[in-house]
Amino acid sequence: MAVRALAESSDGDGRGDFEITNEEFIKFRDFFYAKTGVQFAESKRYFVDKRIVERARDRACYSFRQYFMLLRTDASGTEMQQLINLLTVNETYFFRENYQLESLVRFVLPQIAARKRPGDTIRIWSLPCSTGEEPYSIAIAVLDEWAQSDQFQIEILASDLDTRVLASARSGVYGERSLQNVGLDVRKRYFTRHGLRDHQIIPELRESIDFFQLNIANKAEMARHRNVDIIFCRNLLIYFDDVSRREAVASMFESLVPGGFVFLGHSESMSRMSSLFVPRRLGDCTVSQRPLEGK
Ligand SMILES: C[S@@+](CC[C@H](N)C(=O)[O-])C[C@H]1O[C@@H](n2cnc3c(N)ncnc32)[C@H](O)[C@@H]1O
Repeated sequence: MAVRALAESSDGDGRGDFEITNEEFIKFRDFFYAKTGVQFAESKRYFVDKRIVERARDRACYSFRQYFMLLRTDASGTEMQQLINLLTVNETYFFRENYQLESLVRFVLPQIAARKRPGDTIRIWSLPCSTGEEPYSIAIAVLDEWAQSDQFQIEILASDLDTRVLASARSGVYGERSLQNVGLDVRKRYFTRHGLRDHQIIPELRESIDFFQLNIANKAEMARHRNVDIIFCRNLLIYFDDVSRREAVASMFESLVPGGFVFLGHSESMSRMSSLFVPRRLGDCTVSQRPLEGK
């Protein structure tokens, strides 16, 4: 069977349309998985095929074989990045799963602070950050809700594999859909109007967050980041399989300080992925903690 993924060429003559066979799809799926850890389900087949055909056409490739060759031999990595940007699922919004932010400020940060001295750095990492709503929500929650925030250097890191969403996160411009959970008071203090409908994060907040590209499935990239106190890794590992999940969790474990915490998305369960972490019920959610040394 071959799924017919038609991407009409701009001149409407159908040139550049081709079918991707099962065998070709599996080749592509394995290649993409090896690079990113993301495992496409069969139900995503039409979505994936359509985007491959679109990219192939843009690069003047008129068969899967021709395009796949280009993808694998492009030493610059540009074509792979373009495809990654088309294939990632970037759904996010401000104050998503807000009970986790409440747990952060009421329980997790005070526990981290108790092991530090005033003036020390507390490092929080939003991985993946998508278009930025998550790291900005974390920053706002910490500034507004955590009374001790001015006693520490709070460093917020934010990374994603997709370069298009990172550019959008840095610009900090959002429409109403993203802002559905943002009250008037927060809008007044942390946003300015942008055009007719959009709102932009104020420059001080935008500049306070360190956005950078990172692939969680790349152990060498992950190894560059150490001494992190808290990681938000929400709604990414659902796209991974058991093997890539376990590896990503092991990398996060290494990036955290002993006693550091991981927040996962509400449908992700650490106990099903790894036994490295200890589950802690803190407020209305379970947070995973890297054990303190000697415990
Ligand atoms: C659904 S969004 C989650 C955003 C945010 N954490 C949230 O929960 O609202 C998933 C993000 O994971 C990113 N992603 C996919 N594979 C990745 C990888 N291997 N390393 C880092 N980010 C990845 C995608 O680009 C996408 O922006």
